[in-house]
Amino acid sequence: MSFTLLESVAAARAHCAERRGAGVTLGFVPTMGALHEGHLALVRRAAAECDEVVVSVFVNPLQFNDPGDLERYPRDLQGDAAQVRAAGATMLFTGTLAGFFPDELGPDGALPPEAHVAPGPCALGLEGTHRPGHFEGVATIVDRLFDVVTPARAYFGAKDYQQCLVVQELARRRGAPDVVVCPTVREGDGLALSSRNQLLSAEERERAPALASGLFAARELFRSGVREPGQLVAPIEAAVEAAGFELEYAAVRDPGQWTAEEPQAPLERAVALVAARAGAVRLIDNLDLGEG
Ligand code: PAJ
Repeated sequence: MSFTLLESVAAARAHCAERRGAGVTLGFVPTMGALHEGHLALVRRAAAECDEVVVSVFVNPLQFNDPGDLERYPRDLQGDAAQVRAAGATMLFTGTLAGFFPDELGPDGALPPEAHVAPGPCALGLEGTHRPGHFEGVATIVDRLFDVVTPARAYFGAKDYQQCLVVQELARRRGAPDVVVCPTVREGDGLALSSRNQLLSAEERERAPALASGLFAARELFRSGVREPGQLVAPIEAAVEAAGFELEYAAVRDPGQWTAEEPQAPLERAVALVAARAGAVRLIDNLDLGEG
């Protein structure tokens, strides 16, 4: 299978239109690069289910509420291209904010408020509270990425639980594409793979599995019959605190019904979500307590 690397949004748009015109079913994996096995699992799944697979690499400034985080975010386009090619992708593209929004960008290089796409109610609470503007930035770029690629199916990781809800809602509103959510890929010690993991010091990396350990402990409680939200989050809080990380939230939600606030009543189904700071690095993870 041939592979094309395009460093222009317009060229990517033309390439995708040409492939769709040839009757090809396109799968799409949007990313911010610095790719790891979690991303590659999405590419492999897409390659198994679609004729051709397009991957985007764009460190989207619209979704970074912390300028330091944007600055530090790892970048390796050539390495990314080699990896996605080996995983079965047929095209990788990158671009600039001006390339994505040629008609909308203001003279100051910023995207005016009216060009932003509002995320739905799933953006409220947890990540939405701790990262103001983040999901608006995600919805805005994903909406445009879907315009550029117009895929039949788009692949996202369960690692970013709330992002999946926001994107599913966006795709429903647009009428396409089909959104496929793929399981979180973890290291042997439980740590969820993330591009930001490479920014951890050796010593922080050793303690980083605490988030997953807390989630696994919550799952054990759930399996033993515990249903009270407060009791389910307690081991997550304890694990993060024991690791010496700064807890942002430990929470549970009903996977069938997103609520901004923590549910008060016992949950028959539950997903647990956690965010914590390991020094300058922000880590998130989640686990469906009824699965696995
Ligand atoms: P990024 O963090 O690069 O992630 C790209 C995709 O890979 C997302 O769907 C994410 O959930 C998935 N992913 C990351 N780590 C994973 C893991 N350990 N297991 C499984 N999947 C994993 O998410 C973004 O980029 C951006 O917000 C984006 C959607 C590209 C919009 O800018």
